[in-house]
Amino acid sequence: MTKNQPKVAVVTGAASGIGRATVATLLNQGFQVAAIDVDTSGLKSLSSSLQVDDYCDTYVTDVASREQCHSTVSQIFEKNGRIDVFANIAGIARSEHMTEVSEESWEEMLGVNLSGVFWCSQAAIPFLIESNGSLINVASCSGLMGQAYTVAYSATKGGVIAMTKSLAMEYIKTGIRINAVAPGSVQTQLIDNYSIPEDVNMDLIKPYMGFRGMAEPEEISNVISFLVSDDARRIHGAVITVDGGLTAG
Ligand SMILES: NC(=O)c1ccc[n+]([C@@H]2O[C@H](COP(=O)([O-])OP(=O)(O)OC[C@H]3O[C@@H](n4cnc5c(N)ncnc54)[C@H](O)[C@@H]3O)[C@@H](O)[C@H]2O)c1
Repeated sequence: MTKNQPKVAVVTGAASGIGRATVATLLNQGFQVAAIDVDTSGLKSLSSSLQVDDYCDTYVTDVASREQCHSTVSQIFEKNGRIDVFANIAGIARSEHMTEVSEESWEEMLGVNLSGVFWCSQAAIPFLIESNGSLINVASCSGLMGQAYTVAYSATKGGVIAMTKSLAMEYIKTGIRINAVAPGSVQTQLIDNYSIPEDVNMDLIKPYMGFRGMAEPEEISNVISFLVSDDARRIHGAVITVDGGLTAG
């Protein structure tokens, strides 16, 4: 790793929404980016939207697979010689009655949202320690407050918050920084595809709709970009809410 080499950022969930906005923001900050997603056509569309001088490789990877996470992170390191930032952004969401959550649905939620963050972090941390780099996990306000009809999703996001803090302690004597952002509602494909069961009690949903509308993905990626910058060098083990005050009450 030479000092003059551009810094390398890895972004999961890069094909859409917050991940895609983070790719653009980090490219603007001068990073070389490795974009990971399971969505092949989404990655193709990301590639074709880039400027000619943008340095962004894409990797089709299912983050729920330990083997795929380790293999992709190794390939990225071999190609670039360093990894300075790793942003765990890939995620899925579903609204269901607790009693109707199938084993398949629960396993998929855990696999992508929790195991995905775990395996990618496990693969990336040795390289981030080497670069004094930064790990960012995208959690959710639903990991900080009770939300009806999203019990499985909320459990994974609470898990991401606990994982972030425990990792921050485990690596506190290294130069790596590990933080999470917890967004409220953000206008992305995840929200476009989100549907709630017909027979829910809307009174229970209102408390997590907030008062300030939805964020744009760039309002989250700008915070991620700050957290990985030197200006945030004292921020370690933090969970930064980016939710328009939703969790303030
Ligand atoms: N949109 C919101 O309101 C909101 C709120 C809080 C937190 N979040 C979190 O932000 C993150 C990004 O969500 P978004 O809103 O941008 O959603 P999105 O659907 O626009 O993007 C998610 C991306 O993750 C990818 N992905 C899904 N499963 C994957 C897998 N197994 N392996 C690799 N990639 C996979 C998808 O293909 C997609 O490109 C998620 O972790 C989500 O839980 C979103």
